[in-house]
Amino acid sequence: MAPLVGLAAHAATGSPAPAATQPPAAFAQCKACHSVDPGGKSGIGPNLFAVGGKIAGTKPGYAYSPAMKASRKRWDRANLDAYLANPKGLVPGTKMMTPGVSDAKKRKELVDYLMALN
Ligand code: HEC
Repeated sequence: MAPLVGLAAHAATGSPAPAATQPPAAFAQCKACHSVDPGGKSGIGPNLFAVGGKIAGTKPGYAYSPAMKASRKRWDRANLDAYLANPKGLVPGTKMMTPGVSDAKKRKELVDYLMALN
């Protein structure tokens, strides 16, 4: 009960949570593997809380592919967009087995959301 009340109060004050912290519809397909819980629990994929600006493959407690750990990419907007469009294109050998999000508008919404998760 308490968390719901807290959320409502938070929404009512209008800040500091920007609208972008609401997941876009396209994030539904990511949730099967990714949590965005600030507590940091990972699932099949690493937890994505505060991923924006971080170096790829560095979330503590998650077993990344050797390719992701070796990539040393920084998750800025351009790299996130490229990874979501074609995971294996940006990080050959990644174990994120998804076909990629072909719609640029959906990718932008996803990147906005990921960058706002802080
Ligand atoms: C079938 C499961 C699965 C789905 C669906 C999936 N991912 Fe992933 N994702 C993974 C795995 C596994 C990794 C770790 C890749 C590696 O270590 O090579 C990963 C890694 C990532 C990373 C890098 C995180 C880091 O800490 O470096 C990002 C960002 C990411 N995914 C975003 C997304 C987004 C956004 C979606 C939805 C469009 C999505 N993923 C859908 C499994 C998935």
